[in-house]
Amino acid sequence: MESLKVKANGRGYTIDFVDNYTSIGEFVGAAGYKKCAIITDENVDKLYADEIMSILQAYQPFKMVFPAGEATKNPQNLIAGVRWLANNNFSRTDLVIALGGGVVGDLAGFIAATYDRGVDFIQVPTTIVAQCDSSIGGKVAVDIPEGKNRFGAFYPPKYVCINASVLQTLPERNRADGMAEVIKHGCIYDAKLFDDLSRGIDDFGAIVRRNCQIKQHFVEADEYDRGLRMQLNFGHTLAHSIESYYGNDGEKFTHGEAVAVGMAVMARIGERLGVTEGGTYEKIVDVLKKYRLPYKTDVPIAELIGYMKGDKKVMGGVINVIMLEKIGSAFVRQLKIDEVGEFYDNYSA
Ligand code: GLY
Repeated sequence: MESLKVKANGRGYTIDFVDNYTSIGEFVGAAGYKKCAIITDENVDKLYADEIMSILQAYQPFKMVFPAGEATKNPQNLIAGVRWLANNNFSRTDLVIALGGGVVGDLAGFIAATYDRGVDFIQVPTTIVAQCDSSIGGKVAVDIPEGKNRFGAFYPPKYVCINASVLQTLPERNRADGMAEVIKHGCIYDAKLFDDLSRGIDDFGAIVRRNCQIKQHFVEADEYDRGLRMQLNFGHTLAHSIESYYGNDGEKFTHGEAVAVGMAVMARIGERLGVTEGGTYEKIVDVLKKYRLPYKTDVPIAELIGYMKGDKKVMGGVINVIMLEKIGSAFVRQLKIDEVGEFYDNYSA
């Protein structure tokens, strides 16, 4: 079994790449937890919860199932989860298990971070975005009307158990959604990964392992997102505007689809500003098409700019965005919001 050790401030953890879930039982037994709380959603519950409940039968497994979808990541469900742990007499010697995609990982992790001022939790991610990105790095949160992930914490898991074979059961759109963050990793850090993606994937396990190494690099260098880790936001400023326009429900545009458009537009703007190597936009569009991801949107530019101007990070009409020097190399640059309008209009024509 292959593994990675991620260093986190005072709390390092192991990522195991497995082909079944028995190692969860081994981890729980070795650590001596008394009780386990599996938190999952309705889709993943049907597929994997019984198997994990049975592996953990010696450790009093409990299970809480939330509706699937971004709307689940709300403060009411955070409180419901914390109260459920209290009503089942969980203590700090017990364990929370986040079984699912990014929504479940963020919600269950925040429940664990806040219950009794912190109870251990592990991540068992079941989607591409969760396996390649969100289960690593300790960001946990719920959404509030003022913005996605604005109520949260840094709270690293004790263990991450990744079974890439479960990705086979993902619906097509969910798989494409996750590939956007994988393509992003290639764009900002790993030109070889980007080339491999351009040729097409035949080994999902290898792709997941490589993406975990990339995420490890960023979170070990900058756990609290004050510098290098910000490069992971490539494409995200515009993406958040697109998602806000569509009500953040993940239906018309998923997060990954919005990031895909954001990356293409940023590459185009970078080329027009002369800071991004010529041809980068075309390469990104080609790879996005290959994974059935969009590279443009019909959202009127004035609407997008309106949302961008409302972004709390905007100062004096200027925002820090991530741009590419070329595929595999990113940097932070100040961008006037009005420049987005100027170049986006040209781009969408
Ligand atoms: N997904 C962005 C980060 O972990 O910083």
